[in-house]
Amino acid sequence: MDYRIVSADEAAALIHDGDVVAFSGFTAAGCPKEVPSAIARRAEMLHGRGEPFKISVISGASSGDAMDGALARADAVSLRLPYQNVKDMRAAINDGRVGYFDLHLSEVAQQMRYGFLPRPRVAVVEASQVTGRGEIVPTYGVGVLPTICCLAEQIIVELNVAVPQALRGLHDICEPADPPRRRELPVYAPGDRVGADCVRIDPKKIACVVVSDRPTEVAAFSETDAVTAQIAQNVARFLEGEMHAGRIPAEFLPVQSGVGNVANAILKDLGNSPVVPPFEMYTEVIQDSVIDLIKWGRIRLASGSSLTCSPAKIEEILASLDFFRPRLVLRPTEYSNSPEIIRRLGVISINTALEADLSGAVNSSHVLGRRMMNGIGGSCDFTRNAYLSLFTTPSTAKGGLVSCIVPQVAHQDHSEHSVKVLATEYGVADLRGLSPRKRAEAVIEHCAHPDYRPLLRRYVERCPEGHTPFDPAHCFAFHQAFAECGDMRQAEV
Ligand code: COA
Repeated sequence: MDYRIVSADEAAALIHDGDVVAFSGFTAAGCPKEVPSAIARRAEMLHGRGEPFKISVISGASSGDAMDGALARADAVSLRLPYQNVKDMRAAINDGRVGYFDLHLSEVAQQMRYGFLPRPRVAVVEASQVTGRGEIVPTYGVGVLPTICCLAEQIIVELNVAVPQALRGLHDICEPADPPRRRELPVYAPGDRVGADCVRIDPKKIACVVVSDRPTEVAAFSETDAVTAQIAQNVARFLEGEMHAGRIPAEFLPVQSGVGNVANAILKDLGNSPVVPPFEMYTEVIQDSVIDLIKWGRIRLASGSSLTCSPAKIEEILASLDFFRPRLVLRPTEYSNSPEIIRRLGVISINTALEADLSGAVNSSHVLGRRMMNGIGGSCDFTRNAYLSLFTTPSTAKGGLVSCIVPQVAHQDHSEHSVKVLATEYGVADLRGLSPRKRAEAVIEHCAHPDYRPLLRRYVERCPEGHTPFDPAHCFAFHQAFAECGDMRQAEV
């Protein structure tokens, strides 16, 4: 079948006010760029004529500025699910202009199939290849691509000709059956492939194809600072200790690591460890450091939902595709983040907290309890089901005015039942098997910044009698002090 090739603006004209539009990709990797930017221009044009235009936007995770940034600036979004990390979209959410509820990323596809989320009318998907038989090969990110292609009435394919067709074979595309017919997801090792190398749909659903050559929008990492480097070292030494103690098997276990500089630095340290053998990754986001470690033989294989790599690193992969093909698997998020698979494989999860409290509970999403930062993403999928779940955070933020260790988190994403280990630049609190008072002691003495330790100790000492140190009158004293005078060190506990 021959598809209609149209401009991005012509494709955007297929989208109407009130539509639910679903997009491919995971992080900025694999997201369409030309069509969302054209939808933003359409919104601005219609708004200029006094006509309403807002859509609901669902995707696999966050996206890039060409999508979330452009759509937010054009005031074109009424609802955004399930995750974002772009400045202008974040501002629109916090100003109340965009409705938002962040979701466990493993659940997004099934929540759409179950009818818990609005059904997308149009899917906009970036592809490296689209055949006349209705085969769509994704680019660098998969996310919810298979599900939205099934559910949408119309599909707009953004064919990125800058991505070589030779990428075919990197993806493992599948969708589980829904209950009561669901069977196990048969991934028994991180490299297992259980699906097809493309999405297959009725070609009649493809409304048009837009040709693009836009590069991936993923930014390169900044230099590692001293605090980040120390956190990474603390985590690496801790995991080496776990191996010596026999709690991690000699062949090691698959690793999941979150997004950002700390995760990148931790992987580098693990990669350089003389104790940790070459290992595998079962993660959602494959970052630059993973590619280097695969090249050096320190990571044997990485499975994820996206290649969230800088353009330079993508070039390296493409230049040695035959080497990387057997070492990389890109899956739908339903598989990359599947609780069943994570628990079966015994994944070691390493994620980042905004703040953690004396019980070990973690807030990764809400700055000071109110402002949405990004969302939970897949952090709960991994943390709750991991063999060993770790969280890292610098001990302070905002030049020491904020303690990232607080008596009580202002918003809880991960409870003390899920968080096993907490690490800052000062050390590691191993919370396994500790009672609430012992947990508080470990968090204060191993993780808190020395400036805040006396305050935290005083909080615990003054808590009323009981199993758990908790004082409703003072548990938010740190947050209160920051709200009143911009410095948590002034907290009255
Ligand atoms: N209170 C107030 N502000 C805080 C804070 C705290 N406790 N901790 C950090 N901040 C501020 C920082 O000062 C910084 O502000 P700035 O942008 O004005 O400089 C900002 O929050 C980001 O902090 P930073 O340390 O640079 O964050 P990061 O890039 O390491 O990301 C998270 C940390 C938690 C935001 C990020 O990891 C995230 O979104 N996690 C949730 C999703 C996730 O885990 N995904 C992977 C799962 S598979």
